[in-house]
Formats: sequence, C-alpha cells, structure tokens
Amino acid sequence: MAVHGAPMPASAKTTHELERSASGGRAVAPVLRVENLVKRFDTPEGPITAVDRVSFSVAQGELISLIGPSGCGKSTVFNIVGGLVPMSEGRVHVNGEAIAGPHAAIGMVFQEESTFPWRTVLDNVAFPLEIAGLRKSERIERGMHYVKLVGLDGFEKRYPAELSGGMRQRVSIARALGSAPKMLLMDEPFASLDEQTRLLLGDKVLQIQQELNQTILLITHNITEAVQLSDRVLVMSYRPGRIKRVVEIDLPRPRTSAIVSSDAFGRYVAAIWGDLREEASRGMLSEEAQSSRHERA
Ligand SMILES: Nc1ncnc2c1ncn2[C@@H]1O[C@H](COP(=O)(O)OP(=O)(O)OP(=O)(O)O)[C@@H](O)[C@H]1O
Ligand SMILES: [Mg+2]
Repeated sequence: MAVHGAPMPASAKTTHELERSASGGRAVAPVLRVENLVKRFDTPEGPITAVDRVSFSVAQGELISLIGPSGCGKSTVFNIVGGLVPMSEGRVHVNGEAIAGPHAAIGMVFQEESTFPWRTVLDNVAFPLEIAGLRKSERIERGMHYVKLVGLDGFEKRYPAELSGGMRQRVSIARALGSAPKMLLMDEPFASLDEQTRLLLGDKVLQIQQELNQTILLITHNITEAVQLSDRVLVMSYRPGRIKRVVEIDLPRPRTSAIVSSDAFGRYVAAIWGDLREEASRGMLSEEAQSSRHERA
C-alpha cells in the first residue's frame, strides 16, 4: 500500500511523483493540472481562505478522489476546476489550456439538485444530446440506455418532482454519463443514495470510465466509495483546505464492488480514516467554538 505525503504542505511536492506513478513511471502530460490553487472568500466575519495552495494533477483515464471533512473546500475546488468560480491565486489547466470558464470537454454532476423540473427523466438525460444536435431517435435510444443504467427504467416519463432525492440524483448522473465527456467532475454524486445502490452504481461508473478511458475527479466524503473507485485518493485537511496526504489505491482493475470485503480494501479504509478522523475532529471543534462565540455575542 502506497501512502504518500507527510504533514502539510505535501501537495506541491508530490505533483511530479504523482504524474509518474499514474503513468507507470513515464512522465505524461496530465489532462488536468491544478497548481497552487488558493481561494479566499469575503464573509461578514472577514476573509476566509477556503482552499490553500492545493496542487495535483490527473492523467488521462485516471480516477482521483478528493476526500475531506465538511467545509474543507472540496466543492470550491470542483467549481473552480469546472470553470464556474474564479480562483484567487494559482493555475488550472485542462489539456494544457488555462481554464477560463466552463470547458466543453468537462461534464459535471453537482452536489445540489440539478435536474430540470419541467423536463421528464428521459428529456433531462437527453438534454446534452439535444444541445449536441443528435437526432431525436438517437437521443431517445442513448438517453434510455443511461436511464436503464442508473436503474430508472420505467420512470422515464416521470418528472423530477415525482421522484425521490436519490432518484433525482441518479437522473443527474445519467445525464452527465450520457454526454460522454472526456473529463467528468462529480461532487458527492452518490451522497443521497443508500449504500447498496451506491456500490452498484459505482460499478457502472467504473465500467463506463474504462470503456471511454475517461478522466474523473470525484468529490466525496465517503471512504468506501473513494477506495472502491479511485486510483488515488487525495485527503484534504479541514480549513484551510490543503492536500494532507495522497493514497495510491493499488487494487486490481477491473474492479467491482465485491472488492469491499477484501482485507486489502479494509487496510486502505483504515489508513484514510486515520487521517480523516483527525481533520473531522478539528472541524467539529472549530464549528462548536464558532457557535458558542455567536451565542455569547
Ligand atoms: N460563496 C461563498 N462565500 C463565502 N464563503 C464560502 C462560499 N462558498 C464556500 N464558502 C466557504 O468555503 C469553505 C469551503 O466550502 P465548500 O463548499 O468548498 O466545502 P465542502 O468541502 O464542499 O463541504 P461539504 O462536504 O459540506 O460539501 C466553507 O467554509 C464555506 O463556508
Ligand atoms: Mg461540498
């Protein structure tokens, strides 16, 4: 089991190692390169640094997870990489190009609800195909393939309001997978699903990722999910969000969810939990202190 990194800042130091390890020792140009990313927000309590000098890169066909406690800056990194939020400092390159707004090669699954309420399930899933100019028959065929893939067969004519939260999230996942982007960014895509659906849907995502040689950046706070799916897991610290540790998941591929019961899997989960536990405790203490300050004020 390879666990890189020491107490912070480990991120910048590991960029080149990571590119090499991801390519079996050969240095290749990464599809995504994030360098010294900093994001500050102005808040009524003063400026906060949400993300502090985060660096990592992702090679073609790699699946990387960013894991960390609530509020550590995961969605902020996601939004910046997706070109939706400007950064305060640093550089983000996709295929060698500096990111300047949403990028055609990138598909996104958001943490929040993102279905179109006025469209049926099938029309939601087929939306990017419509934008891409596919004929109606092709849109229906491809859209239905992905509707079935996420287990929503029979619900294709329903509207989002008629579905559960987990089902709506599956519509968003199907929509992103169906447009077959070269790079997929997913922010807690499985958070509202039960554990069994999450594991099985993870298998499907891996299957598609292998078929398309897709590059995926997955944001999660679920350790099992991160180990099940990833080539590398980047553990973030509580505020300011930094990369605390990089864990290479050296489990055989193709992988299925059956792997979660193996000893090796358990060892990765334990190692990552060791790091996360520390950060989550810091997060809870800091939030408790903040709320008692508010109560006193
Ligand atoms: N638009 C904003 N204005 C001010 N502060 C913000 C803004 N967006 C995020 N933050 C702050 O930045 C920090 C990181 O937020 P972010 O949403 O990236 O966390 P996260 O790791 O995705 O958390 P979660 O796991 O709960 O989704 C938090 O302290 C949050 O309050
Ligand atoms: Mg988030």
